Amino acid sequence: MSSTPLKVAVTGAAGQIGYSLLFRLASGALLGADRPIELRLLEITPALKALEGVVMELDDCAFPTLAGVEIGDDANTVFDGVNLALLVGARPRTKGMERGELLSANGAIFTAQGKALNEVAADDVRIGVTGNPANTNALIAMTNAPDIPRERFSALTRLDHNRAISQLAARTGAPVTDIRRMTIWGNHSATQYPDLFHAEVGGRNAAEVVGDQSWIENDFIPTVAKRGAAIIEARGSSSAASAASATIDAAHDWLLGSADDDWVSMAVASDGSYGVPEGLISSFPVTTKDGSWEIVQGLDIDEFSRGRINASVAELEEERAAVTELGLI
Ligand code: NAD
Ligand code: LMR
Repeated sequence: MSSTPLKVAVTGAAGQIGYSLLFRLASGALLGADRPIELRLLEITPALKALEGVVMELDDCAFPTLAGVEIGDDANTVFDGVNLALLVGARPRTKGMERGELLSANGAIFTAQGKALNEVAADDVRIGVTGNPANTNALIAMTNAPDIPRERFSALTRLDHNRAISQLAARTGAPVTDIRRMTIWGNHSATQYPDLFHAEVGGRNAAEVVGDQSWIENDFIPTVAKRGAAIIEARGSSSAASAASATIDAAHDWLLGSADDDWVSMAVASDGSYGVPEGLISSFPVTTKDGSWEIVQGLDIDEFSRGRINASVAELEEERAAVTELGLI
């Protein structure tokens, strides 16, 4: 493996996700103990002092894989030459809000950051968007970075994917390692569709193992889709450590590849697969290898799944119309 440090940008680095994400990145969770990384941390000016404190803590960990840290409030400086950009910085929703309500508050962040990445990122840059509403923020960044290939942008639905695996494991008593081929379709929102009809438990079809359509419709799907709100209700603030963990899982698999005979969920620019309009950033089952992804083809979509996918995609189209109206794309 290369000993050249991978330059990893993290935005919103002084926030609550950042406080978990940076330490895991620096400790080798992304690429293992043999590949150093350099962190480039972007914050808004008032948060730079807090970020300095976080960097002091990073120093104090003496991580062998951490080759350097730079911080700043200027995207063109911080993103210069980065190979991976994790766009986390955005306002989280609070109790009672839907993620779509963040569009106008957060969308503008991603026009500026898309433009900056377009100008200064490394030729091989990959961009993962965690900040909400993640799918449409990724669409905004992608549209504002016309020189970066579209397939280099993705939005995070891996947290939903992991939540779905965990709920299925709890229901069936199977270890999480026995669960494969989980899929989240659509938007990272309450309309998302976690699909048990193609998932497997110990090699058997998950919906058949569960054998209870009512549980799938009335427990499993809403529990996964509304987990973010349940955490806000319980914790008083939105998920952070689990979001950081999923951000790393997604980037790890993107760069190093998904497991054989399995797939992961990633929100990527649609090529029209499964009837999702071309160009929308929607979650699909994908396999990944060496920094590329491919949408898994040929899955049978029954009427129930079709309705769920269509509903989430319709919401993504509404979000796209809203940011077009706001002049962000
Ligand atoms: P937070 O408020 O604790 O931190 C956000 C940070 O972003 C703040 O420090 C803020 O100063 C910074 N920021 C704001 N504008 C910025 C800009 N233009 N450039 C750089 N930094 C900027 O929030 P958090 O809990 O860390 O969550 C961050 C985002 O991630 C939220 O939008 C949240 O909803 C989202 N989130 C997504 C998922 C997911 O699965 N996709 C999961 C959890 C949270
Ligand atoms: C989550 O899924 O936990 C995040 O998107 C935060 C939220 O607003 O739900």
